[in-house]
Amino acid sequence: MLTVDQVAACGVVPVVVLEDAEQAVPTAKALLAGGINAMEITFRTAAARDSIARVAAEVPEMIVGAGTVINVEQLHQAVDAGAKFIVSPGSAEDVIAEAIKLNVPITPGVVTPSEIMLGLKYGLKVFKFFPAESFGGLKTIKALCGPFPQIRFIPTGGINQNNAAEYFKNPKIVAVGGSWMVTKDMVVAGDFAGITEKSAAATALCKEIRG
Ligand code: 3PG
Repeated sequence: MLTVDQVAACGVVPVVVLEDAEQAVPTAKALLAGGINAMEITFRTAAARDSIARVAAEVPEMIVGAGTVINVEQLHQAVDAGAKFIVSPGSAEDVIAEAIKLNVPITPGVVTPSEIMLGLKYGLKVFKFFPAESFGGLKTIKALCGPFPQIRFIPTGGINQNNAAEYFKNPKIVAVGGSWMVTKDMVVAGDFAGITEKSAAATALCKEIRG
């Protein structure tokens, strides 16, 4: 089974919102050209399922996952479409348990010790910290690592090229998530060169810090 560390190997997990599945493959290729080899396509639009299926079928080098998975039905849709990993904004026990049953890596969203303890019950070691900047960013992550030294995070929400460096420097951070390298506007405008440029800058920053 794929591990979360493999998914997050380039240090950046883009959160992608697609209104039209036609945009999925060019977006995936633009991210790959910028050094990003995993993408989270969110279940915030009706095009999510088809978008995941297209990337899974047509861009095999891209590890495509499903984001904003908030119930078991979406989880099944995502996995059936070919999602290789699951991201949720929160911690729903039925979703976590079903993902484990299906053998698909899941990073549920947490901001509190109780949510972390729910994930620990299922053996999870990597959590999405969301919305990161609104909930205290690294300061809160450092505090949470006191009682939970065994876990690491993928912080998401409010992170961008200007503040990602401090996260990359911290060993408790597996990768950072965010939409800054692939905004809705860029996708709608077909600005795939812009997506590649911002992705390359993000992966270069991570490499500069992590080597
Ligand atoms: C989200 O789920 O919306 C992500 O956290 C993206 O947040 P960002 O747009 O602030 O990067």
